[in-house]
Amino acid sequence: MSEYLPELESIAREAGALLMSYFDRHIKIEYKGEVDLVTAADRASEKLIVERLKAHWPEHGVVGEEGTRSDTGAEYRWYVDPLDGTTNFAHGYPVFCVSIALVRSDDQLQVGVLYDPTRDELFAAERALGATLNGKPIHVSRTAHLAESILGTGFPSHKRHKNPNIYFYQHLTLRSHGVRRAGSAALDLANVASGRYDGFWEFNLNPWDTAAGVLLVREAGGQVTRFDGAAFRLDSREVLATNGLIHDEILEQFAQVLAGRDLEPLPSPVEYAKSRA
Ligand code: IPD
Ligand code: CA
Ligand code: CA
Repeated sequence: MSEYLPELESIAREAGALLMSYFDRHIKIEYKGEVDLVTAADRASEKLIVERLKAHWPEHGVVGEEGTRSDTGAEYRWYVDPLDGTTNFAHGYPVFCVSIALVRSDDQLQVGVLYDPTRDELFAAERALGATLNGKPIHVSRTAHLAESILGTGFPSHKRHKNPNIYFYQHLTLRSHGVRRAGSAALDLANVASGRYDGFWEFNLNPWDTAAGVLLVREAGGQVTRFDGAAFRLDSREVLATNGLIHDEILEQFAQVLAGRDLEPLPSPVEYAKSRA
């Protein structure tokens, strides 16, 4: 095991316990954007994580969603999402996590830890050393066909009216066992890594949402690209992560959607209303 993981796991667990101390207590919601929520728990968790990271690895840069930018051009940089799934958290829906990852020279993912305090599940991955869940090795699923798969996606809170994901959602829903929308992109990626989902995609994610989860998927034997199959980068803002076996099938379907081919028109609610009359 690396020099990082034991300390990192304990930091993620500590932050998770802090989140639970705020959970379900009528926490005040503030708005960063129209539906982009933040709470005192996000800020307290980021403060704790950043303090611990700086104490252990003072020479590393840190970038946190809630404003930490101590990126001094260091070779190593931490990406911190102190609470992924804030909307769920703020509404008392128990699907959220802490996500922390170390990246070298901008894009080489080194170590990632993701902790779900509601289920006491700690996912960890390290470059070339595999991925674990609560210390046991995990592997992506063996589902070989899109038609037999279960998938996840998410919808952005920023400029949501401009996002075309509803077309992808419908197209893939009709060609799989279903598409879940659980509200924590980091956990969605962990679900692919542990075989609970066969695939996941989302638009407009940030490096703190994806860094740990993408490393988990890769180290669990899965595949991560952009929507056209090009190599994923932390600044790609498009992520498609799968078990590898259904990747090409999803890429083919995405190509159809992106070209506007084979798009079933969304059923009309007006027609439905008429049929009820
Ligand atoms: C959000 C979650 C959500 C995704 C959003 C993210 P946050 O992160 O990961 O699942 O759909 O795009 O912004 O704001 O809860 O950390
Ligand atoms: Ca996030
Ligand atoms: Ca967050």
